[in-house]
Amino acid sequence: MAISQPADRAAPAASALIEMRGLRLAFGGQTIFDGLDLTVEDGEFLCILGPSGCGKSTLLRIIGDLLAADAGSILVDGKPPRETWRDIAFVFQSPRLLPWRSARDNICLGLELRRGDLPKRAMRERADRLLDLVGLARDGGKYPRMLSGGERQRVAIARALAVEPRIILMDEPFSALDPKTRRHLREEIVRIWQATGKTIVFVTHDVEEALLLADRIVLLSPKPTRVAETLAITAPRPRRIEDNPALAARRDRLLGRFADAAAPEQR
Ligand SMILES: Nc1ncnc2c1ncn2[C@@H]1O[C@H](COP(=O)(O)OP(=O)(O)OP(=O)(O)O)[C@@H](O)[C@H]1O
Ligand SMILES: [Mg+2]
Repeated sequence: MAISQPADRAAPAASALIEMRGLRLAFGGQTIFDGLDLTVEDGEFLCILGPSGCGKSTLLRIIGDLLAADAGSILVDGKPPRETWRDIAFVFQSPRLLPWRSARDNICLGLELRRGDLPKRAMRERADRLLDLVGLARDGGKYPRMLSGGERQRVAIARALAVEPRIILMDEPFSALDPKTRRHLREEIVRIWQATGKTIVFVTHDVEEALLLADRIVLLSPKPTRVAETLAITAPRPRRIEDNPALAARRDRLLGRFADAAAPEQR
């Protein structure tokens, strides 16, 4: 397979917290990234859209030091991911809670693994503050089977926040939820992001979700994957697409663009 040279790149902004340059990765002879460049600003809410299989989850794994690229560079706060994974927490599509632990104790789990030095009481206090932040102040003693899907996902968000990461990587975190819960959790995550000042990299298939949440949307191409388009979204929050003709126009254009981008994958 031909490997093209990465395109000319503009110098990254001084405040870039995550900086990927010329990233290359192949799995079993199939090129996934062929010189991918992407930066994430400190404190930014970045949404990544792209066709299925283009490497969105893989990209998050590289940022979080769960996977190494074949070539190119990735720096998180100026350092390689193996030195910064403690600054990063994940939220996945399914909440991945331990069924035999209460909501509170699931939130404590990450702390036990990363901050074993903290006294148990301090962990529980932090868990309770976060339960409050995600709207579950009275549910800390419930086990996962006693929580709704949306509530479980809130626990997963609280568990991610508990380790006080600088960066939260979210991989389609709301896609398995019903539309009403999804709408509600979108509002919640914006509120939490505004309250905590975290940097969020949020993968989604949903164009409207990206427009509602993001400071910036990065649209990825089909494999070999590169950044097809970047859009800055400056509309004030909370956003309602139906009340904002400019956002609605962007949605319609992105849906067309996204369909184009997805097409070669489906041949
Ligand atoms: N460990 C692996 N070994 C081999 N191939 C892999 C591995 N992990 C991912 N892939 C392949 O790499 C490509 C990117 O996978 P990835 O899961 O990152 O896609 P994605 O963009 O997150 O897709 P989706 O939107 O469906 O979640 C896919 O073609 C996938 O089959
Ligand atoms: Mg994925």
